[in-house]
Amino acid sequence: MIVTTAQLFKHAYGKYAVGAYNINNAEQAMGLFKGCIQSQAPFIIQISKGARKYTDKRMLEAIIRAAAEIFPESIFAVHLDHGDEETCYDCINSGFFSSVMIDASHDPFDQNVAITKRVVDAAHKKGISVEAELGMLGGVEEDIKVEEGHAMLTNPAEAEEFVKKTGCDSLACAIGTSHGAFKFKGRQSLHFDVLEKIKTRLPGFPLVMHGSSSVPQDEVKRINAAGGQIKDSMGVDPKEYLPAAKLGVTKVNIDTDGRLVWTRVHREFFRDKPGEFDFRPPGKIFIEEYAKFIASRNELLGSANQLADLRKSLSR
Ligand code: G3H
Ligand code: 13P
Ligand code: ZN
Repeated sequence: MIVTTAQLFKHAYGKYAVGAYNINNAEQAMGLFKGCIQSQAPFIIQISKGARKYTDKRMLEAIIRAAAEIFPESIFAVHLDHGDEETCYDCINSGFFSSVMIDASHDPFDQNVAITKRVVDAAHKKGISVEAELGMLGGVEEDIKVEEGHAMLTNPAEAEEFVKKTGCDSLACAIGTSHGAFKFKGRQSLHFDVLEKIKTRLPGFPLVMHGSSSVPQDEVKRINAAGGQIKDSMGVDPKEYLPAAKLGVTKVNIDTDGRLVWTRVHREFFRDKPGEFDFRPPGKIFIEEYAKFIASRNELLGSANQLADLRKSLSR
């Protein structure tokens, strides 16, 4: 069942974080739904601009609608990840999305406010909520690369002003994470001090943590043992998800980890079966392995086993 992101946030706030997982194809969708049913967790499906272009935006929509029928027990929202203004309007008008993210974090504060406000006005007319971003994560987002030293943590006072001026419904804050598999050199911890200050200024307001993959080192080792060359990778300590959730982080974005599962499964499969050329056997393994991974993340996020209570609260 597709619900609004606001409904998921209302149930989760301060108790657990909802996992927001990116999908690009049918195998990822199957693994995601299976893993969330196995762990009895609500979730958010994220679709990036790149995902919409990979096959066709209508393909993803059809896959999601089909998955919702295959897994009628599931409760989830559909979200545009890192949208520009034009893509936000396209998704708002599609009638399919629960929420959109407008990412104008690379623009100066006033411009970010103005762009976000325009998207909020359009989205709210259709009952869709808006995630905005303030501060700058390191790493790679689509075609924009932010060097590690240039990533800027969110300023708590600015966060309060930004939310008041834009009317956005949730805020992606930079608290030390970055996108991709190379998040930290040395220190591996979230800036809980910044998070606490933001929460004090914005009590009850849902915060979002991007760049939250944990980059499991056993996964990376297996990829490298099967011919990969992923060096010096490091992710977020997944034991920090729940403490962050208690400080208002209601949505945790995880994409890179799923790509690592895919890469490990396929590298090992074709290493061990060099004569194989049917893509379905490794695809089936990937679906099962991705489901296991998703279930394990939902446990760490605290979203596991929340489905029954959420269903009750939605019917009230
Ligand atoms: O933050 C970006 C997400 O990991 C999506 O990645 O833009 O390559 O689809 P993508
Ligand atoms: P990761 O690269 O850490 O998976 O982050 C994903 C993300 O923030 C999607 O918006
Ligand atoms: Zn992101």
